[in-house]
Amino acid sequence: MYLLSQEKQDQYLKELFDFLKIPSISADPKYKKSVKEAAEWLANSISLAGCENIEIIPTKGHPIVYGEKTINPNLPTVLVYGHYDVQPPDPINLWDSPPFNPIVKKTNIHPNGAIFARGSCDDKGQMFMHVKALELMISNNDLPCNVKFMIEGEEEVGSDNLEIFIRENSDRLKADVILISDTGILDNNQPSITTGLRGLSYMEVKITGPNRDLHSGLYGGTVANPINILCDMISNLKDDKNRINIPGFYDEVIELTEIERQQMSKVPFSEESFKKSLDINHTSGEVGFSTPERKSIRPTLDVNGIWGGYTGEGAKTVIPSDAYAKISMRLVPNQNWKKISILFEKHFKKIAPPSVKVEITSHHGGQAYVTPTENIAYKAAHIAYEKSFGKAPFAVRDGGSIPIVPLFEKVLGCKTILMGFGLDSDAIHSPNEHFGLFNFFKGIETIPYFYNSFVKLYKK
Ligand code: BES
Ligand code: MN
Ligand code: MN
Repeated sequence: MYLLSQEKQDQYLKELFDFLKIPSISADPKYKKSVKEAAEWLANSISLAGCENIEIIPTKGHPIVYGEKTINPNLPTVLVYGHYDVQPPDPINLWDSPPFNPIVKKTNIHPNGAIFARGSCDDKGQMFMHVKALELMISNNDLPCNVKFMIEGEEEVGSDNLEIFIRENSDRLKADVILISDTGILDNNQPSITTGLRGLSYMEVKITGPNRDLHSGLYGGTVANPINILCDMISNLKDDKNRINIPGFYDEVIELTEIERQQMSKVPFSEESFKKSLDINHTSGEVGFSTPERKSIRPTLDVNGIWGGYTGEGAKTVIPSDAYAKISMRLVPNQNWKKISILFEKHFKKIAPPSVKVEITSHHGGQAYVTPTENIAYKAAHIAYEKSFGKAPFAVRDGGSIPIVPLFEKVLGCKTILMGFGLDSDAIHSPNEHFGLFNFFKGIETIPYFYNSFVKLYKK
């Protein structure tokens, strides 16, 4: 076990702060230079940690950072994946401190303090734990296996170029397990291992009515209003049991067995604290399923954004010419995201009245993933969390998506283990994203335990 002196802790934090100060927003072309700067910063950092053969690999989009440390080709290899890109900080006025000026503040959930900054939890802070854990293992001369780092700058925009990279570099990326910290644990007193991720299909729709915006007095009541129509169509996508109405949507869904559902219900979850944390009086979702089930093992459909017409100051009497929405579906194992995108498109066009035109585009998507719990990687992760938290972790399927993970298995033939350290309440993608100091240092403590247990189990 590595005991970190206060001095070391301060130094790690200072380094992480420097990393968090770089606004590596992958979605916004204005930040292309900053994304590159973050890649360079990271390449230097993994080099100082002791990695060799460092490369910053340019892609059509943002670069991939690669490095490795081979100690003995007969020993197993761990491939660490993460992302150094971050979500846009908007809406910026809701941040209590600037998103790219990290500071430590105490919260109820993080009484020892948390780092507030965009990317602190998702995923710079979590990925940086691996850099520091590797540095500790190398400098103490007890790295037990070979390590490869592959950190991308396009996770938050769909990982398109990483997919091409792994297809073209499957030899160089050969590994025995892929290790990722980009998910969470149940809470700081109860660790968990993420055993599933949902898939995703992300669509955009445009509804067009008259050829121009119209005076709503002169024309109101005579032509279809695209916003009204879009709202009708959206409300028709789910039935009164909150099941998705798209024909064929559930055809491929693998239902959980009663035993699996019973197992799931044993994982601690408080409906009351869940509601309280969101300031809501009621939860809502598919009839017949619990909140933990709704947010992990069931597919969903949500409108992520809707716009059209006049939204400025005051009032403007207008019938808009068009209306738009971004709609995404979270998918579960065995649903094929490309197929679901086609089903959505067909259905949405079918339910449109003849008074409007419909255009649909598919943004991106990915498959769901379930990690096996019978392999040595899972067992090693279990041992690692148990050692560092003093408590056995639960297996928990998560609701978020990391679309490259199922492709790692398909293209590289390699399973992933998801060892996250964030909390649901850390506000990833939201204003005031943060990451607990406890979580950051616990991660650095837990990772070497994983390496050691994995190598021991591998040799058996
Ligand atoms: N790290 C998240 C995914 C995540 C977070 C999974 C918490 C499980 C628990 C990742 O960076 C992310 O935000 N993924 C996107 C998908 C991507 C294609 C934009 C998501 O889930 O919306
Ligand atoms: Mn992430
Ligand atoms: Mn994210």
